[in-house]
Amino acid sequence: MRLILLGAPGAGKGTQASYIKEKFGIPQISTGDMLRAAVKAGTPLGIEAKKVMDSGGLVSDDIIINLVKERLTQPDCAGGYLFDGFPRTIPQADAMKAAGVAIDYVLEIDVPDSEIIDRMSGRRVHPASGRTYHVKHNPPKVAGKDDATGEDLVQRDDDREETVKKRLQVYHDQTEVLLGYYGKWADSGAPGAPQYRKVNGVGAVEE
Ligand code: AP5
Ligand code: ZN
Repeated sequence: MRLILLGAPGAGKGTQASYIKEKFGIPQISTGDMLRAAVKAGTPLGIEAKKVMDSGGLVSDDIIINLVKERLTQPDCAGGYLFDGFPRTIPQADAMKAAGVAIDYVLEIDVPDSEIIDRMSGRRVHPASGRTYHVKHNPPKVAGKDDATGEDLVQRDDDREETVKKRLQVYHDQTEVLLGYYGKWADSGAPGAPQYRKVNGVGAVEE
């Protein structure tokens, strides 16, 4: 199973990815999580990426494409993979096509902007695993603690309201075009074309 999850910041890509990867036994390739790990480790990539991420902009296509290509060479990707937050621009999508990276399904998680701000402001994450909670909609068993490890949950630096607004704008300007890109490819029925499904992302996580 080779999947792409598409959707606005806060649509629930990471939340759904944690269920899908368990069910199908495939790795979640979240470029956001990979960048946050680099920031935490203080690598040159992390230092560079932090500025861009805190501003709500996108890290350069070359960096991201190389990061993902490298990740795909690891043995756990042989049986499939789940892209979360990637591709995010036409050049990123084109690079995967050119490299022959197979995709079976593209799932679009559809959530209106009005819901997004609320979701981001209540989000709490467990940095080591990427597990995501919401103080109201998806609370941990013990407030402020990860369910599996009991470790502290934190708020993401880019979840401030001003940054969230910028990220939404960047999504509409640069990423939303991918809905049509994959939709048209799916409709073409060409060999290797993925199937495309749009899912209503408003409702309970389990739904
Ligand atoms: P990234 O980490 O990918 O962030 P994002 O796409 O903005 O998406 P989020 O992680 O914010 O949201 P999500 O859809 O995963 O939602 P979640 O499940 O957490 O990227 C961060 C930054 O890195 C970018 O801004 C960019 O700078 C850089 N970057 C990353 N990839 C890049 C790329 N490919 N190219 C260039 N730059 C890149 O859910 C959100 C909240 O809602 C949670 O609190 C959750 O509990 C709650 N929630 C989830 N589902 C529901 C529900 N059904 N009902 C109620 N609440 C819900
Ligand atoms: Zn995410």
